[in-house]
Amino acid sequence: MKLIIAGATGFVGKEILRHALRSPEFTSIVTLGRRAVDIEDQYAEKLTDLVLDDLNHYSTSARAKLANADACIWTIAVAWTKSMSLPFDEVKKASLDYTIAGIRAISESNATEKPLRFIYFSGALVDRDLTKVVTTRPEYAKLRGGVEVELLEYATKNPAAVQVSCARPGYILGDRGPGSVTPNLPPEVPRVKLEECVAAVLKQSVDGIEQDPILNDDLVRIGQQALSRYIS
Ligand SMILES: NC(=O)c1ccc[n+]([C@@H]2O[C@H](COP(=O)([O-])OP(=O)(O)OC[C@H]3O[C@@H](n4cnc5c(N)ncnc54)[C@H](OP(=O)(O)O)[C@@H]3O)[C@@H](O)[C@H]2O)c1
Repeated sequence: MKLIIAGATGFVGKEILRHALRSPEFTSIVTLGRRAVDIEDQYAEKLTDLVLDDLNHYSTSARAKLANADACIWTIAVAWTKSMSLPFDEVKKASLDYTIAGIRAISESNATEKPLRFIYFSGALVDRDLTKVVTTRPEYAKLRGGVEVELLEYATKNPAAVQVSCARPGYILGDRGPGSVTPNLPPEVPRVKLEECVAAVLKQSVDGIEQDPILNDDLVRIGQQALSRYIS
């Protein structure tokens, strides 16, 4: 099957790519982002790396590379911690505008009879009720909730073209490289291991979307079931 991974240069996307490349279930992989993926891999011949200067606009040749995908796992966004150091307009552009432009371009490029499975990485604290009062960084919380709402609206209007599921991990436990420090999180913040997250979304992209949203505990459960299938 053909899988698109948007944001394969990031912490989560990089690991999704690494395991998808090793799995014979994915015969064609397209990575999508603002810079090239850094990969030296014996399986790289099944990879097409699509780098776009502007992730709001998809040329005819970009659309051709994305055409007829079975699934897309979307991890492009400005994460909560990084959002504090950027102007809100930039955070919004990368987190909302690019996601909506992406689902449109990829689903419009799908000429198969089957709807595209679009799995979007959101977060455990995201809420689709945009009227709720949020005290911690309300602008960012509403932005991320709004992305889920817009994705679901698009899928509802285009049921033959796309199905959407939002994965909502808590803190993802994994190796963030040298110098990274694990934050001192309160115990109530849910946690999921990176390999569980990866296995869970790869399984959903192949077997079909089990539910929406996929909460942290669901990612742990589905990921555990699929660990031996995808994580070597
Ligand atoms: N990590 C966690 O513990 C965690 C927990 C809950 C939810 N999530 C969510 O999961 C998703 C992925 O998280 P992550 O930890 O993998 O994040 P990450 O390491 O920051 O990666 C984010 C991806 O988005 C791209 N990106 C960011 N800003 C961009 C911009 N302005 N233009 C184009 N591309 C841009 C990055 O590209 P570059 O590599 O070029 O910067 C990268 O490919 C995010 O939505 C995050 O909120 C993460």
